[in-house]
Amino acid sequence: MRQEIEKLKKEIRHHDHLYYVLSQPEISDTEYDNLMKHLQKLEEKNPQFITDDSPTQRVSGNAVKDFKTVKHSTPMLSLDNTYSSDEIIEWDKRVKKIIANENYEYVIEPKIDGISCALTYKNGMLVQGATRGDGDNGEDITLNIKTIKSIPLKLLPTSDFRLPTPLEVRGEVYIDKTDFQKLNEEISKNGEQPFANPRNAAAGSLRQKNPKITAERKLKFIVHSYGTIPGTEKFETHFEFLNLCEKIGLPTTLKNIHLTKKIEEVVKLCRKREFDRENMPFEIDGLVIKINSLEQQKKLGFTMKSPRWAIAYKFPAKQATTKIKNIVVQVGRTGILTPVAELEPVALGGVTISRATLHNFDEIERLGVRIGDTVLIERAGEVIPKIIKVIETKRTGKEKKISQPAECSVCGQPIVKEKEGDVAWRCINPSCPAHLENGLVHFAKREAMDIEGLGEAAVVQLISKKMISDFADIYYLKKDDLLKLELFKEKKAQNLLDAIEKSKTRPLSRLLFGLGIRNVGEKAAIVLAEKFLTLDDLMKSTVEDLQKIYEIGPVVAETVVKFFALPETKKLVEKLKKAGVNTKEEIKTGPKILEGKTFVFTGELKNFSRNDAESKVRELGGNASSSVSQKTDFVVAGDNPGSKYKKAQKLSVKIISENDFLKMIK
Ligand code: IVH
Repeated sequence: MRQEIEKLKKEIRHHDHLYYVLSQPEISDTEYDNLMKHLQKLEEKNPQFITDDSPTQRVSGNAVKDFKTVKHSTPMLSLDNTYSSDEIIEWDKRVKKIIANENYEYVIEPKIDGISCALTYKNGMLVQGATRGDGDNGEDITLNIKTIKSIPLKLLPTSDFRLPTPLEVRGEVYIDKTDFQKLNEEISKNGEQPFANPRNAAAGSLRQKNPKITAERKLKFIVHSYGTIPGTEKFETHFEFLNLCEKIGLPTTLKNIHLTKKIEEVVKLCRKREFDRENMPFEIDGLVIKINSLEQQKKLGFTMKSPRWAIAYKFPAKQATTKIKNIVVQVGRTGILTPVAELEPVALGGVTISRATLHNFDEIERLGVRIGDTVLIERAGEVIPKIIKVIETKRTGKEKKISQPAECSVCGQPIVKEKEGDVAWRCINPSCPAHLENGLVHFAKREAMDIEGLGEAAVVQLISKKMISDFADIYYLKKDDLLKLELFKEKKAQNLLDAIEKSKTRPLSRLLFGLGIRNVGEKAAIVLAEKFLTLDDLMKSTVEDLQKIYEIGPVVAETVVKFFALPETKKLVEKLKKAGVNTKEEIKTGPKILEGKTFVFTGELKNFSRNDAESKVRELGGNASSSVSQKTDFVVAGDNPGSKYKKAQKLSVKIISENDFLKMIK
């Protein structure tokens, strides 16, 4: 068994190398996931063979209070910056003076806009990851570093030589532009402040005290230099060092580097690369020019803060000044209000800019922005540029302050902040045209009202033809209306009408989930429906009533009450009832044999879905929770249990099998 596990780990490592270093995967993502699942299963059955370098152990350990300080083996220095061809040529003259009469070669690499980190391997195993800190001392972020999939936990063996040990490589942790955008969308959806640029996102994700959060962010790593490596005679040039790294599984900039012996070519390349910059998957803020030979690097040496053998060429910042013509408030698909500045058009990094985001109203306050102000704007990775600062000397006194809105700019209903500390204002009116489309697609989906045929395409057409202006309107649609739309012929129209009719009988829990009340997912909807049984009773409840329910916290309680207090919601509910939509929940009542007991389910159950099992617990008088705590009485573990299993063991909570649970409820 041990051999089988080792073989599987080796195979996964091989595919990691193909994927992250060589960008030449040989298997599909699903096949890779299957290998991982297989390994997980084998390790679960044989926990004595789990090793620290196993790919399943990337997220291990709990949140730390503070990062420990680590002293770097040699200082992590910085680079001198240049901004023009003249400055590059000046640097080259200084190099020439020191290594007089020798030919030399330059390596030109992208300057990755990430966070500098040092990784130490001992006997091929990753033992430490540290931030740069002040250059002499950094922070120990090993647990977070281990969650980054492009960083090998164990280096690949080489046949040519023995791996030097310890081996300390240095490089950048970064996030790809597309992953950055997705992350920010996710953050905005949750009403939190998005990151200003990919670099901040990488820094914020890397310095999380809880490695589980770091693991969720799609961080990557690229090696660009080294700290201590005994036996550097293994390579004579920087180029050879990068090749060695790739061989042992460490990703480098090799694909994007250039070698030349002519300084004119270096200069030419700097100009060309500025245009290519947009096509790179990650942000680069310039190029790094290095002398290739390590022997010559040694001769050139260091100043107090940077090597003489390398220099950074920074691309000109993508900044410009322009005037704010107006500030408008956009309401996004999820109801978040975003102020956007309309600008006098200005050229920036090859495109004309006429809008800049202000993120939220706290940002307007922080910047002190007024309509009519002249501002400095910057484009850094985001599609839409942002405002850096107001140029106050350009003020004429005619600028207009703008205040926080009290209502949604689209539907005029009051707006809310979901919880204390949130920066985003949100419109929660379910009938607001700004997010009706999103809301109705959700209302119709399988887990909610299950209306087959009412997908995005149909919803978009119905809204654009003004046939519906809230969810209830779908129950008043006639076949003739549908036939007017491009999407529908006789049969399809009838099918949709049948599906709409059928949806009227769904239980209250599905209706509640479908209404898209913020923070009310499938589970909370079931809990609320089973407690109140009718929509009328739920609508009469207060925050205090709701908070008395075991599974409902203060944030959900407050959003539910605010949602039902809206006149638009009341109108919508009346319209739904009038159309004959069911607003009741029926629950089977039985003896309360689980009274007072709290259950948590983990892993895959054979006889129930998770929701059904939890409903059963509530039906029998118990509580079903999604997280394990001291208050949990039983953790029911199905196949492949997750972290809740480990937590239960740690807290000595009783763990039972699905069969034990079945016996209990019989
Ligand atoms: S070489 C002695 N190469 O830029 C420092 N650094 O502004 C040797 N950086 O601290 C570093 N891309 O974190 C090097 N291709 C690259 C780089 C790079 C980004 C970072 C590095 C350094 C900072 C200096």
